[in-house]
Amino acid sequence: MEELHKVYKKNECKYLTHDFHPYPHKIIPQIARALIKKYTAQNDTILDIFCGSGTSLVEANLLGRNVMGVDVNPLACLISRAKTTSLDCNKLDQAVTDLIKKIQFHLTRDGTLQDYTERLQPKIQCFKERDKWFSKNALLGLSVIKDLIKRIDDSEIRDYCMVAFSCIIKEVSQASPLYHLTKVRYPRQITLFRVNNLFKCKLQEMVREMHEYSKKRSNSFVKVLNQDARTINADKVMGEVDFVILNLPKFNMDFERCFKIYSWWLDFDVTTINKNIIGTMKRKQNYYKDIGFVLGKALDVLKTQKYCTLLVTDSYCAGRHLQHGDQIQQIAKKIGFTFKEKVVRTIPKKLLPFVTKDRKEEIFIFKKL
Ligand SMILES: C[S@@+](CC[C@H](N)C(=O)[O-])C[C@H]1O[C@@H](n2cnc3c(N)ncnc32)[C@H](O)[C@@H]1O
Repeated sequence: MEELHKVYKKNECKYLTHDFHPYPHKIIPQIARALIKKYTAQNDTILDIFCGSGTSLVEANLLGRNVMGVDVNPLACLISRAKTTSLDCNKLDQAVTDLIKKIQFHLTRDGTLQDYTERLQPKIQCFKERDKWFSKNALLGLSVIKDLIKRIDDSEIRDYCMVAFSCIIKEVSQASPLYHLTKVRYPRQITLFRVNNLFKCKLQEMVREMHEYSKKRSNSFVKVLNQDARTINADKVMGEVDFVILNLPKFNMDFERCFKIYSWWLDFDVTTINKNIIGTMKRKQNYYKDIGFVLGKALDVLKTQKYCTLLVTDSYCAGRHLQHGDQIQQIAKKIGFTFKEKVVRTIPKKLLPFVTKDRKEEIFIFKKL
């Protein structure tokens, strides 16, 4: 498979709905597509166990495969659903135009902060360290936008707008754009006009991308489940899946610092979720055990003579470069998978945000005999 060896430029990976959100550690869409094409046929059912922002779900649907995605992070599920839900484009256009008009009315260039608050009386979001990470304008602008989104009746359109909203949170905050962690401050002045404009541009771009996606999507089903992969009820789908994709969570990832800025605004509890994130700093000693457990579930749900793919990336921990592929390959074999193939890819650092060295990615193919 030639596609697995190619290096893809960032812009090549942004087609259709893939650029809805800069979710960390996304799978390259062309790679997901090549694997799905090779190991499945039309109307097959695929399970993506760590679906993240839904890259493989989009590709599976475009290829006419049924697909289920599982992720414990509610933001991941929100994005995955927004990227794959078939929305009535006329209804979406109308709702977005109305929302933009309302926001524009409340967040115009003129007036004082007091004016805005009096006109709309939005509930100003409250959270720990709020004034450290958000200026007054950012806080008010985001609160107004969130408030107006929450008033949208259609839950699918509401979630869709929430994804656009989530994308501007970091941009208007005082968090450094150079780090994916909410760790280093980067004080900046932001006007209400700018907050409004960033949101408007993002939402309009998403609508254009959704129009394109709607023309190409198939009628096969996409289901997104917000749950811990270790609690998948394998009995329900035992031996019914034709292909399993696992883009493994990163080892030693600081999940809480990466996602806390989103959690403040999207009302999820990052500390509780962090406890269940595989590979996160707090759970890293359980990494291989957790992966083994999930691989066991993958084996249970897979039909015999079918394939499972694992994408494993290297990591850095206390200055040490760690490669996890060999150990994970051993675990998969021990559980009962048969090793078929391995492809090693180098991802140049210039293509990755926030990294200073080239990374290695290993793609394993296993079979259930
Ligand atoms: C490498 S990312 C997947 C990215 C995805 N392929 C994409 O294109 O966006 C790994 C994902 O595993 C999820 N994850 C970590 N621990 C999990 C668990 N216990 N159950 C379900 N998902 C988990 C994380 O939330 C993260 O979204």
